[in-house]
Amino acid sequence: MTSAPTNDIEFRSVTKRYGAVTAVSDINLSVPKGAFVALLGPSGCGKTTCLRMIGGFEQPSEGEVLIAGSIANGVPAYRRPVNMVFQQYALFPHFDVEKNVAYGLKQLRPRLPAAEIARRVGEALEMVRLTGF
Ligand SMILES: Nc1ncnc2c1ncn2[C@@H]1O[C@H](COP(=O)(O)OP(=O)(O)O)[C@@H](O)[C@H]1O
Ligand SMILES: [Mg+2]
Repeated sequence: MTSAPTNDIEFRSVTKRYGAVTAVSDINLSVPKGAFVALLGPSGCGKTTCLRMIGGFEQPSEGEVLIAGSIANGVPAYRRPVNMVFQQYALFPHFDVEKNVAYGLKQLRPRLPAAEIARRVGEALEMVRLTGF
C-alpha cells in the first residue's frame, strides 16, 4: 500500500489577527516534502507572520498549521522540528563568533562533550569561512 507523501508544511484556512489588524487572512498553503519555497509580497502582507506561525512564535487565531503532517497549533517553538533565521539576527553582542555559534549546542541535554561542541562549531565556521573570528 502506498500513502500520499506528507507535506513538510501545510496551512489550513489560517488567519492571524493582532487586535483589530488582520495580519494573515484565510491562507491555504501546501509545501511538498523537500520543496524550496519563497514567500513574495509587499511589506506588511503577512510573510513574517506566516514564518512565525511555522516557528511557533505566534499561534493562529483561526485554522491549522501542520508540520510533517501533524497539527502544530499549541506546540511550543522549542518542540518543533523547524528552525528560523530572524531578520534581526539576535546575536549575543558580548560573545565572540565562536561562542554565538556554540550557544545552542551548549543548551543540549544530555550535555555534549566540550570537544564535540568545539568540533561542530569549527566545522560550521569553516563552512562559512569565519574560522578565527
Ligand atoms: N506583533 C504585532 N502586533 C500588531 N500588528 C502586527 C504585529 N506583527 C505584524 N503586525 C501587522 O501585521 C501585518 C503583517 O505583518 P508582517 O507579517 O510583518 O508582514 P511582512 O513580513 O510581509 O512585511 C502588518 O500590517 C503588520 O503591521
Ligand atoms: Mg517581514
